Amino acid sequence: MIRFDDVHKSFGRNHVLQGMTLEVPKGTSMVIIGGSGTGKSVALKCVLGLIRPDSGTITVEGASKDRDAFLARFGMLFQGGALFDSLPVWQNVAFRLLRGALKRPKAEAREIAIEKLRRVGLAPEVADRLPAELSGGMQKRVGLARAIAADPEIIFFDEPTTGLDPIMAGVINELIREIVTEMGATAMTITHDMSSVRAIADDVAMLHGGKIRWTGPVARMDDSGDPYLDQFIHGRAEGPIPAVR
Ligand SMILES: Nc1ncnc2c1ncn2[C@@H]1O[C@H](COP(=O)(O)OP(=O)(O)OP(=O)(O)O)[C@@H](O)[C@H]1O
Ligand SMILES: [Mg+2]
Repeated sequence: MIRFDDVHKSFGRNHVLQGMTLEVPKGTSMVIIGGSGTGKSVALKCVLGLIRPDSGTITVEGASKDRDAFLARFGMLFQGGALFDSLPVWQNVAFRLLRGALKRPKAEAREIAIEKLRRVGLAPEVADRLPAELSGGMQKRVGLARAIAADPEIIFFDEPTTGLDPIMAGVINELIREIVTEMGATAMTITHDMSSVRAIADDVAMLHGGKIRWTGPVARMDDSGDPYLDQFIHGRAEGPIPAVR
């Protein structure tokens, strides 16, 4: 569904992506892991066209030239939430259902928002509150509800369980699995939470040094024989990846 082919991206002298190549098959869940600052979020933003690669190509199956139609196929949870702070929760969730190509009548959009909030464990009462009135974990879940609001074909989750309690993290892991297995969506998730990796991944890819260091089915992650991957998944301070970067 998505193919990165030798993608390079630098910001000044900061060479972030240095030949990233990766394939994400349709209807599968790919989890990207890797150290802080290795370019995981940048990679997702490159697919959406929010950041433009310096060279290389990113291909999305069935992509059209019409940018609105292209973006309508995606849902994205941003790492920082990126909620609109002046809009009540339900209008954040239903943002794309209230305008543009996916526009629905207002009452229907609100109903969908409340249903999506329920799926991320938030009660209907939350719908009329402002983001600033919610806890960090609740805001994260509003961002998730917004990402899935329009039932996208391709969905990107940047740190979906960070800041959630273990039970809520489990709920969100199950939700991501469901979206892939029941709705047939293609998902790319970035996470530092290794239990989340095991719960949601079909395939795992580790980004290191601007390239995909290792990729394979999640079941093969533990006996990869790759010292970088091993250090990362076991959270060891000692190993080939320096602690100060
Ligand atoms: N718009 C930008 N302008 C300049 N530098 C940027 C920009 N976006 C990202 N970077 C830089 O690119 C590098 C990779 O950033 P990115 O956000 O992709 O990291 P990450 O792998 O997602 O890390 P984390 O796990 O901490 O979220 C960082 O050094 C960051 O400072
Ligand atoms: Mg990031």
